[in-house]
Amino acid sequence: MFTPQPIGFVRSPFSDAAAIPKGLGARHDEEGTLEILPEFAAGLTDIEGYSHLYVIWAFDRAGGFDLMVTPPTDNRPHGVFTTRSPRRPNPLALTVVELLRREGGSLYIRGIDMLDGTPILDIKPYLSSISPEKLRRGWLGEAEARKA
Ligand SMILES: C[S@@+](CC[C@H](N)C(=O)[O-])C[C@H]1O[C@@H](n2cnc3c(N)ncnc32)[C@H](O)[C@@H]1O
Repeated sequence: MFTPQPIGFVRSPFSDAAAIPKGLGARHDEEGTLEILPEFAAGLTDIEGYSHLYVIWAFDRAGGFDLMVTPPTDNRPHGVFTTRSPRRPNPLALTVVELLRREGGSLYIRGIDMLDGTPILDIKPYLSSISPEKLRRGWLGEAEARKA
């Protein structure tokens, strides 16, 4: 299909996956930067107008996949495509981050859940048009209700 090429790399306070908050109620408030390579930096033009971004990145340290997963948010197994597990057939990740500011090719962001040095594959503006009443949260909503 195509060979993914990093457009940049994440600078994150996390060098150890165990330090990244996980499980029900986990919050991702840590700050970091998206360092976009000079040859792609012109693609950031006008990005300052957006408060939030989708970051598409590669789980470059996952290795292999499982079709059934017991995530840290539940004690029951679920299909990998209903989870955010790093161990998936195509190791692609998606994180919504808050854009704090831009300095040249560096995007200062809040909401990091990536390890330091993670390859960034794409960035898109976050625009949600789905009202909260229409959203169903699947097994995660049930796990949250059991825990409450
Ligand atoms: C549950 S995944 C969710 C990632 C993304 N928000 C998503 O939904 O696709 C986040 C976890 O991936 C792991 N992780 C972070 N960076 C990684 C990397 N570069 N390679 C492999 N695993 C990584 C860490 O354990 C982190 O807690």
